[in-house]
Amino acid sequence: MADTGKRRISILGSTGSIGVNTLDVVDQLGGREAFDVVAITGNANIALLAEQAKACGASLAVTADDAQYSALKDALAGSDIEVAAGRDALIEAGARDSDWVMAAIVGTAGLAPTLAAAQRGADIALANKECLVSAGELFINAVAEGGGRLIPVDSEHSAIFQSLEDDQHHAVERIVLTASGGPFRTWTREAMAGVTVETARAHPNWSMGLKISIGSASMFNKALEMIEAKHLFDLRPDQIEVIVHPQSVIHSMVGYTDGSVLAQLGCPDMRTAIGYALTYPNRPKLNVERLDFAKLARLDFEAPDEVRFPALRLARTALERGGVQGAAMNAAEETSFHAFCAGRIGFLNMADITEQVMDSMADYGAATTMDEVFTADAEARRRAGEIIAKNEMAA
Ligand SMILES: NC(=O)c1ccc[n+]([C@@H]2O[C@H](COP(=O)([O-])OP(=O)(O)OC[C@H]3O[C@@H](n4cnc5c(N)ncnc54)[C@H](OP(=O)(O)O)[C@@H]3O)[C@@H](O)[C@H]2O)c1
Repeated sequence: MADTGKRRISILGSTGSIGVNTLDVVDQLGGREAFDVVAITGNANIALLAEQAKACGASLAVTADDAQYSALKDALAGSDIEVAAGRDALIEAGARDSDWVMAAIVGTAGLAPTLAAAQRGADIALANKECLVSAGELFINAVAEGGGRLIPVDSEHSAIFQSLEDDQHHAVERIVLTASGGPFRTWTREAMAGVTVETARAHPNWSMGLKISIGSASMFNKALEMIEAKHLFDLRPDQIEVIVHPQSVIHSMVGYTDGSVLAQLGCPDMRTAIGYALTYPNRPKLNVERLDFAKLARLDFEAPDEVRFPALRLARTALERGGVQGAAMNAAEETSFHAFCAGRIGFLNMADITEQVMDSMADYGAATTMDEVFTADAEARRRAGEIIAKNEMAA
């Protein structure tokens, strides 16, 4: 690509909820006048991927699904946009030279392409928490060795990032991750046992992709965020707190040794965190709703219930055990999530299965290479799959 003097960006997972919001922010901040879009990627939504590629003038459009190559090629016929498909092409999208990469693929599928971007020194705007949950320090080290910056996009981690004072890491006592509590915040376990995908995906405040919406209902998303926070901010497990805050206005907080607590607030709109990640350390001018405190009137808080929401307890277990527990938890939860969506298991089984897999891999040592992370991930998926199949046979 010729050097146009514009910021060169790529969006991994452009067809998802974060991806669509990222393209909106890019448009708000000047669109094609200000940015060269090097690569965008999707999976199943070929019509949207093609439409986005034409609208933003992407040089490369990739679908992760080999079988969709012809459909994407046809949809982009007559344009000069390069088309590719499959896992290697996804990695190529991350590896292709750009200054900034939004990592917004859902699940562990995002790890290899994000890693490729990190290794060549791109700034990584990290929405895909699974990179850190699975690969932890190895991923942090890859970014550091590449020389790019790691800028969190998850609203909680962006809030913490924004509330951290320069050079005051030694004075950080704790971080407090806020959680909306999801649609089942006040439900009993008995009531949760029979819920459907449709009820579980109806988040009270945020509009998000399916996986993270179900993860918010089970609080597995918060559990993954606890592990993400540990690695992003180099914290001990006892420094990570979770508080349920149903309005989702305080996005998270940092508590300091002098008793001060700094927080970042805003309407629940991911474009604020995405915009900050795109323009950091500056703040962009964004057309998003402003908080109206008089209308808001009050902010509520309650302690999380780790009996009704065991995912939080499992995150603490993973943090305390170390080893490959993050990769095992992430992979087992992802496998159970797919089984829940396919109607093969109930809502509460997701935590049971994840716990069984984590326990069965408790004595695995920490991964020292990315290959070992991928091996642990595959093993956890195999074990989760086996438990799901056994349960089905017994039913
Ligand atoms: N949504 C939010 O508000 C939010 C907030 C904080 C963090 N995050 C994190 O951001 C990530 C993305 O979340 P999302 O809500 O945007 O998800 P989403 O709406 O489900 O979008 C996921 C993206 O990944 C693509 N994809 C799906 N399966 C894939 C595969 N096997 N290989 C490669 N690409 C694949 C999808 O393509 P198709 O749609 O074309 O199939 C889509 O572009 C997650 O890690 C999530 O935890 C999201």
